[in-house]
Amino acid sequence: MSQPDGGSVGARPVAAELRWAAQRLAEAGVDSPRADAEWLLCDALGCDRGRLLLVDAVSDNARARFHHAVAQRAERIPLQHITGTAAFGPVDLSVGPGVFTPRPETEFLADWAARALADTAGTQLVDLCSGSGALAIAVATLVPSVRVTAVEYSPRALHWLRRNVDAAAADIAARISVCCADVTDAEQMLELIAPAGVDVVVANPPYVPDGHTIAPEVAHDPPEAVFAGPDGMTVIEPMVPIVADLLRPGGYVGIEHDDTTSVSVLTALESTGQFVDVRAHADLAGRLRFATGRRADGRTPQARGKMAG
Ligand SMILES: C[S@@+](CC[C@H](N)C(=O)[O-])C[C@H]1O[C@@H](n2cnc3c(N)ncnc32)[C@H](O)[C@@H]1O
Repeated sequence: MSQPDGGSVGARPVAAELRWAAQRLAEAGVDSPRADAEWLLCDALGCDRGRLLLVDAVSDNARARFHHAVAQRAERIPLQHITGTAAFGPVDLSVGPGVFTPRPETEFLADWAARALADTAGTQLVDLCSGSGALAIAVATLVPSVRVTAVEYSPRALHWLRRNVDAAAADIAARISVCCADVTDAEQMLELIAPAGVDVVVANPPYVPDGHTIAPEVAHDPPEAVFAGPDGMTVIEPMVPIVADLLRPGGYVGIEHDDTTSVSVLTALESTGQFVDVRAHADLAGRLRFATGRRADGRTPQARGKMAG
């Protein structure tokens, strides 16, 4: 097969370019050097990953783009910032400086939310700390009947969130509302979203304890998307009672968290007295990754004044 980008063909074949790039990225400490080299070469060539091995050689133009991208990746700029795209479940999202790059492990939470909506015949989902809109758009894609409210407070993240919603298929975008609010501010939240009416709440809030060592790539995520105080709980703690107010009886919440804070998040849910079936969930590597709970039937005196009843 010839060059997808139509440039002049140089002597170096695809296999040699990939070997060179994978070695350079490995030396720079990149976790998945071969896979990243392949993604970057596909991006430079403008071809799908499945077609990469069918390409005979790399043109001068494509090679220049590829070598520039490999140099950026060797400086530990995230792959997704270089290509401008992050794959997340059924969707591709635009990402770049100012917004958190969605992580594959969060796809577990998207799948869990889709199942929770199906189990409860739910139609209303709220995505707190929405960032690029990864969870909001993925769940709206997986569940065609759901209406989603995506809540985010960072103006820079909101720019990417709106851009990704606008780029979604019209029937998906029409079911997603984007709101600017602080998820720890009960007054703001309960003015924005009617209490006791939401079927499922998902949240991937900032949760890394301050001072934890992070990979160089993570330093490209906005700090307000990553860190949450000395115990990693400064957003989750105040957010949980608000979630209890938003959910209808029998509605579900799923919160992603640091693998060191599972007990704290379970305790935060249980200590409201508003959740039952509180449980921890592990990822494929066995790390406790998110917590879920179901809103108890009936409202107790702990519920906030603004709530119905
Ligand atoms: C870890 S990122 C998650 C983004 C996205 N949900 C995902 O899974 O990829 C956390 C997001 O929460 C936002 N955030 C942090 N504190 C917030 C708050 N108090 N209110 C609303 N959004 C907040 C950050 O700006 C960031 O976009």
